[in-house]
Amino acid sequence: MKVNVKKGKIDQIKDQAIILSHFEDQKKLTGPIKAIDDRVLGMISHLLKNKDFSGELNQTAIIYSQDRLPTPRIILVGLGRRKEFDVPGQAGECLEKFRQAFGSACRRVKELGIKSFSTIVFPTDLKEIDLGKASQAMVEGIFLSAYQMDQYKTIKKDRSLKGFTIMEEDPEKIEAIKKGAKFGEIFAQATNLARNLANQPGNILTPTRLSLDAEKLARENNLRCKVLSLPEIEELKMNSFLAVASGSKESPKLIILEYGPTGHLVKDKKIDTLALVGKGITFDAGGLSLKTTELMLEMKGDMTGGAVVMAAIAGVAKLKLPLNLIGIIPAAENLPSGSALKIGDIITSHSGKTVEILNTDAEGRLILADALSYAKTFGPDAIVDIATLTSAIKIALGTICAGVFGNRERLKNQMIQSGQETGERVWEFPLWDDYQELIRSDLADIKNVGGKPGAAIIAARFLQNFVGDYPWVHVDIAGVDFSEKEKPYVPKGATGFGARLLLQFLRDWDGI
Ligand code: BES
Ligand code: ZN
Ligand code: ZN
Repeated sequence: MKVNVKKGKIDQIKDQAIILSHFEDQKKLTGPIKAIDDRVLGMISHLLKNKDFSGELNQTAIIYSQDRLPTPRIILVGLGRRKEFDVPGQAGECLEKFRQAFGSACRRVKELGIKSFSTIVFPTDLKEIDLGKASQAMVEGIFLSAYQMDQYKTIKKDRSLKGFTIMEEDPEKIEAIKKGAKFGEIFAQATNLARNLANQPGNILTPTRLSLDAEKLARENNLRCKVLSLPEIEELKMNSFLAVASGSKESPKLIILEYGPTGHLVKDKKIDTLALVGKGITFDAGGLSLKTTELMLEMKGDMTGGAVVMAAIAGVAKLKLPLNLIGIIPAAENLPSGSALKIGDIITSHSGKTVEILNTDAEGRLILADALSYAKTFGPDAIVDIATLTSAIKIALGTICAGVFGNRERLKNQMIQSGQETGERVWEFPLWDDYQELIRSDLADIKNVGGKPGAAIIAARFLQNFVGDYPWVHVDIAGVDFSEKEKPYVPKGATGFGARLLLQFLRDWDGI
């Protein structure tokens, strides 16, 4: 899909459709929307007067120009109340409204089979919202909503959008819009890449296949990629990771991606190094602590953490950010079999700490334990991990936001800030020492489960044992990685939640 930014008036453009956004409480039309309304003999005013379209957020309406404009259709989309856009400190919420509104308009475009349309960023002047950011949010909403997964359909409906044009009359604003649009495209493409990976079924996307995809991504984005197989993982003594993988015939892979401003890691005091660790369980049956069919339905997506790490690193490479990144993705299947990890097994992890396994379905923390202590060996300035870790996070927060945990206030706050900016919101949980009591084992140093109450915190606290005091932040995305219903810019299925969150976190990175 191609985005163009052009100088000119929207009422003079010839395209298949024009999308115009409108505020709910804006009674008098002004600017480009007024110019169009005049050309179509007040049809927009009439629509508003008859209250068939109010401008409520995500509401859409279509008007036909009947040859009074070079473009036959005008799609109106509501932005909600204008008043809410004038409140200082609410920019994140407003950007989310832009994202949603243009996502909703784009859904309408898809339903109509339209291939190309034109639009403008602001319907009117907005002082509190940055033009570049609004342009980014708008482009994101369109790209995210245009996403479709029809790879496995033998008969495909062609609903693909070819491109769209953003019109702007003021030449001084063009540069900011162009820059925002470029960011929007890169951010949304990161999400869509993660969605594509997480939507792949377990029989296709095995650990080997994920590692091949990582190598391909590395070739395309000038990243370094190293894939460790069984003998090398054994050599590293990552027994906690290997224990999880032991139930499957598919061999585990440890995927390591590296990005540096010159194509590889740069040794420079001014350039910080961050390790990004993502859970890469390509299918989670639960192991011998077998899940029910119902609970297994979403478990092909248990590698979303790994997918969003891959997508965010590719995004950083496209943006050429001045950072060193190490992506670490332990990839395996969690299946029951004669060789699977058993209840009561005790393993010695990569860190040397012993772990008693009391539930094989709490496998994410086992593979992450080794990946986190391995990440420390690279000596990064901070470690970020992201994982579909616990169903308890979904009970706590629903499907609205993810959970954030960590041992540095600044890191957690940076993640919360990135969540506001991207609409991929995160909510903080505590990690007090009291939780450590719950995972004390009678036989080993630690056990991998600690009861149902507070289970998301317990899982995070388990991970903390493997990072110690190393600066670390953990994001649990188990409630948000999959959407059962269509939302303005989120189709059913994999959401790719976390790709834009990480990308924003890295874009705003300003030291620990
Ligand atoms: N992959 C699951 C967590 C999950 C649940 C992800 C729902 C996405 C949607 C994880 O490996 C798991 O099974 N966790 C268990 C842990 C329990 C046994 C302590 C859980 O949360 O139920
Ligand atoms: Zn599990
Ligand atoms: Zn899992």
